[in-house]
Amino acid sequence: MSTVTPEASLAVNGGPKTVEEFEAKQGGWGLKVGVDEFMALADTWGYSEAAREKMRDILEEEDPYVNPRLTRYYNPRPSRAAMLEEYAREVFGVKYALGVNSGTSALMSAYVACGIGPGTEVIIPAYTFYATAAAVVASKGIPVIAEIDDSFTIDPEDVERKITPRTKAIVPVHMVGVCANMDAIMDIARRHDLVVIEDNAQSCGGKYKDRYLGTIGDMGCFSLSSYEVVGAGEAGLVLTNDEWLYIRATSQHDTAACWRPDRYAKERTPGELFCGQNYRMSEMAGTVNLVQLRRMEAQRVRYNTNLRAILGGLDQFRDTKLRRSNDPDGDVGYMLILAAGSRESASAIADALEAEGVPAGARGTRASRDWHIYSYWEQILEQKTATEEGCPFSCPYYEGPLPDYSEDMCARSADLFDRAVFLSVNQWWTPNDCASVAAAINKVCGFLG
Ligand SMILES: Cc1ncc(COP(=O)(O)O)c(C=O)c1O
Repeated sequence: MSTVTPEASLAVNGGPKTVEEFEAKQGGWGLKVGVDEFMALADTWGYSEAAREKMRDILEEEDPYVNPRLTRYYNPRPSRAAMLEEYAREVFGVKYALGVNSGTSALMSAYVACGIGPGTEVIIPAYTFYATAAAVVASKGIPVIAEIDDSFTIDPEDVERKITPRTKAIVPVHMVGVCANMDAIMDIARRHDLVVIEDNAQSCGGKYKDRYLGTIGDMGCFSLSSYEVVGAGEAGLVLTNDEWLYIRATSQHDTAACWRPDRYAKERTPGELFCGQNYRMSEMAGTVNLVQLRRMEAQRVRYNTNLRAILGGLDQFRDTKLRRSNDPDGDVGYMLILAAGSRESASAIADALEAEGVPAGARGTRASRDWHIYSYWEQILEQKTATEEGCPFSCPYYEGPLPDYSEDMCARSADLFDRAVFLSVNQWWTPNDCASVAAAINKVCGFLG
């Protein structure tokens, strides 16, 4: 027989509470991120077991209930991703900075923000990491591939030749430490009413006429991944001075639009809210990359000083030329590139430099594949897409003939890439080390170049 309790006994009506207190001392998820997680992290640094035991002993003496979530939201500690954005705004001198989880995500956020989509074309260089091109297709635009010049960055003359009524944006990529010719690119963009999105994954800290790369065009994109000169783990960054582009980039990078002043509000302006992705920067990436960004300027000065010291000690060679810089003072300087007279001599020079004790490499006569040169981008050249309908290449909004995609469509760039000799500069080389490297190049190229 069920007992019907009088209504007055409900706690809501002033009756006694059924549950005064739970015996469990932690919240439902318990301690989500504590000493064990911290120790697992320490393991990735490769500390010895003895060192890790000492760390654990110290950590266990501390109150473990801070429970950092390692997320930007609901975090008892100040968000490191937010701190990184604040520092980026300050150091780069821009109004808006958005931390994301990779350089590719940075490009996707910027492309979508700028309106790259069905029916639009984007001009990119033939020599860049494939992500620059792939993100155009993923944004539903058509990549138009332009030649590079002797700076190994996009050739402004070829950009201008490749503009059509469908062109929406130009993406200069500042390759391996050297800036694109930004005056020429900005001039073309203004004359043709185009957007400029700088891909600065490879030259973080580099400058053009005293302005940081990534702050000259409408938007600047960075990879802050460990493979880059500045970066650790996997992360990316978007910079802009344009509020609307920033708002749209935030919508693409976090489709729940958490970053807005009022997360659940209706859109304030048409075009603010749409179905995006989640590219939020993790707190781990924010933490380590804030440290990396703080090192950026001093590091660039060290690299640039050493590159200039080596270049200053070089002779003139018969056929081998130096990669031209669009602003030598602004080079990051971590790579010295020589353009040999032929693929064969590029291979011979790289081998001879290695034999002299100087780290160098060249593609030369090797037939190995490389995602940095357009001729291997079959996904684009053969229009491979995730589903068989072939969007965006087959999109009815696309009104032009597709670019004439082929392995030799930018033969000049492919040839330059094959003849390049890459020599990694060490920021910690002493003046004597730099003099020895210059002597080795002079010795080798004196015979072979
Ligand atoms: C020029 C360029 N753009 C974009 C990217 C993509 O960056 P991530 O690997 O962080 O997505 C890279 C990465 O190497 C790159 O070199």
